[in-house]
Amino acid sequence: MRTYEELTGGFGHAIAFRARRQLARELLREQASTITIAGASYQLYDMAMNGVSFIATPDGPHWQVDDILEVDIRVHDTSAYLGRARVAREEQIYGQRRVGLQLLSGFLDLHEMQRLDEEQALMQDLVDGPERLLARIPKPYRDVLLATVHFAAFYQRSLGYHEARLHDANTVAADEREALARRAVASIRPRWHALRIAAAEAALSLRGDRLALAAAKAATETLLTSRLIAAPVLHRAYTKPLGYAGDFSVMLHIYKDSFEGDSAFGQVFHKLACEEPLSAGVRTRKDLIKRLTAREHARRRDEGEPLRAMSLGCGPAREVVEYLDECETPPAGIHWTLIDQEEKALSVAYHDVLRGIDARQADCTAQCLYLSFEQLIRDPLAIRGEPQDFIYCVGLFDYLNKRRAQALLASLYERLQPGGVMAIGNALGPNQHYWLAELVLDWTLIYRDRDELRTLAAPLTSQGATLEIQREDSSAYDFILLRKPR
Ligand SMILES: C[S@@+](CC[C@H](N)C(=O)[O-])C[C@H]1O[C@@H](n2cnc3c(N)ncnc32)[C@H](O)[C@@H]1O
Repeated sequence: MRTYEELTGGFGHAIAFRARRQLARELLREQASTITIAGASYQLYDMAMNGVSFIATPDGPHWQVDDILEVDIRVHDTSAYLGRARVAREEQIYGQRRVGLQLLSGFLDLHEMQRLDEEQALMQDLVDGPERLLARIPKPYRDVLLATVHFAAFYQRSLGYHEARLHDANTVAADEREALARRAVASIRPRWHALRIAAAEAALSLRGDRLALAAAKAATETLLTSRLIAAPVLHRAYTKPLGYAGDFSVMLHIYKDSFEGDSAFGQVFHKLACEEPLSAGVRTRKDLIKRLTAREHARRRDEGEPLRAMSLGCGPAREVVEYLDECETPPAGIHWTLIDQEEKALSVAYHDVLRGIDARQADCTAQCLYLSFEQLIRDPLAIRGEPQDFIYCVGLFDYLNKRRAQALLASLYERLQPGGVMAIGNALGPNQHYWLAELVLDWTLIYRDRDELRTLAAPLTSQGATLEIQREDSSAYDFILLRKPR
């Protein structure tokens, strides 16, 4: 909890209060909000109490700023606003025409719109039931989903029974549970991995079909995720208690890679999830960063200089903790700057890294900065201090579209010392392992192939940066390595 003194209000332009805009797709579940102008309907993009924006068709009418229009804003079939609106602006965003309107005849009642949407969703659920969803899912995916659900349910029942039997026999519950889970994993592992690969293949047929993908995700979450979240890592990854996927706590489960959970079934699927390529790759990409740290540390040492290393989206900074611990002699002359938008992650990183420095009596320093990458893009002075010799960012670019990714790359490159190197990880695609993240956990990553990585780096290579692409040992992530010329 923060004290009243810490509640600062806005700064700069932000002191002028503006009604908050909400994206239509986030406010309304069923994405059923439209605006009708002169008999033509358009999809709403975002809305606030006193204004909306919508996506206009490329060949539709062209309005001028200050034109007054008669509009009808509807949620499903119910009118939520009928009256006049002023054209406030028109923008081209990703090739789409987005038109902003100021409402003149009253206000939008966003809560009422949400209520109408929820009501409609309930009606549809009651009348159409799951059949509506199932009908949208291609048969190959339905078949494989049934196989995975049966598999999980079978072992939930079987392991539950044997766990209860051991417990009844009054043996040491925790040890017996883990022994049972270890036995089960050994025999279940190959069949589960074959099933998830088959699921990923079947899910290919959903590509490009938004409705089929949404239906397949809903069915997978209802039937399978609800069971698999007995595994702590899957529970955290799916429920996203901090509001986003891949938080530091998920990462800590993956780094630990052990048998965690309250039931043998939960432990088995926790361990299997930690062994998936995307999880195994989290551990091996951390090893790659350790090797790059050692290489850059040696380079700077040969030059008689310290190494300034910066991690953006540092999470728990395991690579730093392990580097400190594993160096044969206590490392000297490294200054780490660890950046994350999550205070809780920084708290873990700060504690563990400082303890690591202290335990080795290492002549190194670490500072943690509570910043978002957006601040780095917007404010060249957001990190005061010297340019960095080694900048890395792991587990962040796979969430950024090309435009954001290139803006962030440029802003990191600005902070790189001539001769220094940048290492940027990204989940690779196409692959056979996206199913668990995308369909079971609703954890969307942008998987990129090497051509896409080269495209991201192109503005920097054209400035003279040398590019190398390196794959970590689990073949789940590729790294862009960019060195700045001296
Ligand atoms: C998948 S984790 C990776 C953590 C760490 N690099 C690792 O590999 O263990 C992603 C991290 O990025 C951080 N993050 C997400 N959005 C961010 C933002 N806008 N600015 C800075 N950090 C961000 C999250 O808080 C999280 O700690």
